[in-house]
Amino acid sequence: MARRIPLTRPRPPALSRLGRELAAIEDSGFYSNYGPVNARLECAFITQMFGSQGYCVTACNATIGLMIALRHVARRRRGSCNFAVMPSFTFAAMPHAALWAGLTPLLIDIDPQTWLPLAEAEERMLRQHGEQIAALFPYATFGNNLDLDRYDWLSRQYGVPVVVDAAGSLGSTTDDGRAFGAGFAHPVVFSMHVTKAFATGEGGLIYSADESIIAALRAMGNFGFGEPRSATMPGLNAKLSEVGALLALAKLYGFTSVVAHRATLGVAYRDLLPDFTFQHLNGRLHALQFMPVLLPAALAAQRAEIVAELGRQGIGTGTYFQPHIAEQPFFGETCMVDRLDATQDVAARILSLPISDDMDIEDVERVCAVLREICRRY
Ligand SMILES: Cc1ncc(COP(=O)(O)O)c(C=O)c1O
Repeated sequence: MARRIPLTRPRPPALSRLGRELAAIEDSGFYSNYGPVNARLECAFITQMFGSQGYCVTACNATIGLMIALRHVARRRRGSCNFAVMPSFTFAAMPHAALWAGLTPLLIDIDPQTWLPLAEAEERMLRQHGEQIAALFPYATFGNNLDLDRYDWLSRQYGVPVVVDAAGSLGSTTDDGRAFGAGFAHPVVFSMHVTKAFATGEGGLIYSADESIIAALRAMGNFGFGEPRSATMPGLNAKLSEVGALLALAKLYGFTSVVAHRATLGVAYRDLLPDFTFQHLNGRLHALQFMPVLLPAALAAQRAEIVAELGRQGIGTGTYFQPHIAEQPFFGETCMVDRLDATQDVAARILSLPISDDMDIEDVERVCAVLREICRRY
């Protein structure tokens, strides 16, 4: 009997093997409040991942990180709609974060090849809605690289702030091998959720090359205390616990080989499914969380049956992101929606195939053979 291959098999660092480090936390008396383990973690991220360039602050998860980043940077006009321009092909955390930050999500289409927010739609929204655009809120879809120089240019050209959702991008690198986001002045928010390649459990990281942004977000994440125990700005509790920081510190060691292994599995999927459509990836390495692929258009209507049959044969799959944001009831009522032609097509055909740290090429071969065989029946 072939072993089951789940969509993801989370592998956070084993807390049971971190007894000495846990005892050190107990001895220190610091359990939270940006304690010593958290300080070591932030320093390690900057030196080991971001080439000693820029600043960062941790958060208890990426959603809270996005909320405070948007709340901090968004330009707002009293009495008018304040839009956050974001793709509809994304996860619910994005529109929720915008709504909590007092903004109205303005949902736009994606590029049909890269599945990144459609540049033409972003620029049309900026021309059409002018200062009603409170922030650009792009998503680095599935760890793919956004063109951050272009967002820098758009920000200067239109005087609009930017917050990047890079939930799945810890480990993704640009063409010149730098970490995605390195050197970018606007906040870039990463997730350490257990389903990501950088799996810890719950956790977030906000990066910016602008020290003042990180200082403000650190204060916002600590109840808005700009002065000792005195709120000088909006705030909430966004702090990562010391145990959460310890897990992330442990995850950093050896993480490059995790990303490289996942990338090798991704290449195998592409080689073994030549008749399927894959995301066009910008950059060098991608921290693959799972392997998204588009079914041939003729098979889109059979997706539920294909998923069910894969499941019966022991292969876990997903359909991220379907339903996309505009299709979800709450967001249908709370968001503004532009044309979504590519989003509809991609969401209708998307199938997320398994990737995990302990899969090997034979597992990928089996997934692809079973998928090809099922598809041949239709
Ligand atoms: C695109 C996107 N944004 C934000 C998040 C939220 O991350 P977290 O679970 O760390 O809050 C996720 C989580 O999966 C995501 O996929």
